[in-house]
Amino acid sequence: MNMNSLLVVEDDSAWRSTLVDFFELEGFRVESAASTREAMARLEQQPFPIVVSDIYLDERTGLDVLRAARKANDSCAVILMTGRGSMETVMAATEGNVFEYLAKPVDLDRLLATVKRAQSSLVTADDLVDDDPDDLPETELIGFSPVMVNLYKEIARVAKTDATVLLQGETGTGKELVARQIHRMSLRSAAPFVPVDCGAIAASLLESELFGAMRGAYTGADRDRVGVFEAANHGTVLLDEIGDIDHGFQLKLLRFLQERQVRPLGSSRVHAVDVRIVAATHRDVAKMVDEEKFREDLWFRLNVVPIAIPPLRERAGDIDHLARFYLRKYNERYKLSAKLTESGLKELENYTWPGNVRQLQHLVERLTILAPYGRIDADAVRFAIEEAEPRDNGSETLADAEAEQIRRVMAATNGNKSRAARILGIERKTLYRKLEKMGLA
Ligand SMILES: Nc1ncnc2c1ncn2[C@@H]1O[C@H](COP(=O)(O)OP(=O)(O)OP(=O)(O)O)[C@@H](O)[C@H]1O
Ligand SMILES: [Mg+2]
Repeated sequence: MNMNSLLVVEDDSAWRSTLVDFFELEGFRVESAASTREAMARLEQQPFPIVVSDIYLDERTGLDVLRAARKANDSCAVILMTGRGSMETVMAATEGNVFEYLAKPVDLDRLLATVKRAQSSLVTADDLVDDDPDDLPETELIGFSPVMVNLYKEIARVAKTDATVLLQGETGTGKELVARQIHRMSLRSAAPFVPVDCGAIAASLLESELFGAMRGAYTGADRDRVGVFEAANHGTVLLDEIGDIDHGFQLKLLRFLQERQVRPLGSSRVHAVDVRIVAATHRDVAKMVDEEKFREDLWFRLNVVPIAIPPLRERAGDIDHLARFYLRKYNERYKLSAKLTESGLKELENYTWPGNVRQLQHLVERLTILAPYGRIDADAVRFAIEEAEPRDNGSETLADAEAEQIRRVMAATNGNKSRAARILGIERKTLYRKLEKMGLA
């Protein structure tokens, strides 16, 4: 197959000859077809690496050309153009593995750039990473690097004891996952594990959340409220974001840790509870103690067995396993078959991951859906990372790329706008507005 050959399918004769002349001048060997029937005949005679086709042609459409082209040559890159984009055709095109979908009027430079991109994705040797997940562990915690093995040892050592554990690590490093693992491996595993995000609960509510409240103890309380410590009796409570608790409440928490008794708000009776405490924070609490923002006595009570969870950049060797794990997960969830290439993996491994594993997970979710052609290569990774980072708006190509992302995500989620908005990281209202602007609302 001559990698420089191109099939143009277009019923408008003026636009067809413009395209043919344009691509010939750019050094392509161009063949053209004026109808779907003619296009099918050509595709049967010889395979084409790249096909550029209009969508609305005759009784059949560019979608039929897409299917025929991919059937004749399953690596064929098909670029569809249309002046009447609808959600339905975009979905069908995406499902048919279209390489790119361009709205008319098509800018010739943009079309050329797209064709060149298709060409280079076809010819560059960028081997696919083996996605056979045989070597992935059964447990949820993934990582084989020395720092992770060390962490496993610490978890194993501490799990069977009742000691209070303090987990310290940057955001997204897996503090909650580690806390669950400690509970699961402990003698308390049959009793509940209850996480409490102390940073997210208003100081005024944290007390009743943890200790419970009697009916009428505060406005709106029309029945007794069981506190977390009681609900988790015989189990484990994760006090997450412990560095965020209000100074005034720190003393109450300290008393609880000393006495292990709760007195629900508005009650005169105390109950003894038996819970194991795991606390977690991404803050430097020792420094907060120095600055007198955190009580030193409470700090000593919590910091019995400190466990540090390493940031992802200190275990770049695990990125490979994590990326393949999430790739498989999201391929299954969205019924896709995206593949990671060697260059894509290298790009992931070279990034610094300020958001750690959570950021990697979200990025792979996006990439699984958005990677052009289901190939996650270095360009796709670089682009997704840039997208996720704050940027200044207004550039034309970014707007185009954004529209492309929206189309793919809408197709992958079967038009489910809430889910699409979540994956795109924008509000639903914003998504509606953008779809309207794209003429797809
Ligand atoms: N070693 C790991 N293996 C597999 N998944 C992981 C690992 N570490 C973290 N994750 C995943 O990353 C995401 C974030 O983990 P988790 O919520 O435990 O982080 P965190 O440290 O509590 O973050 P934050 O400080 O933002 O609350 C979760 O989806 C979790 O499953
Ligand atoms: Mg957390």
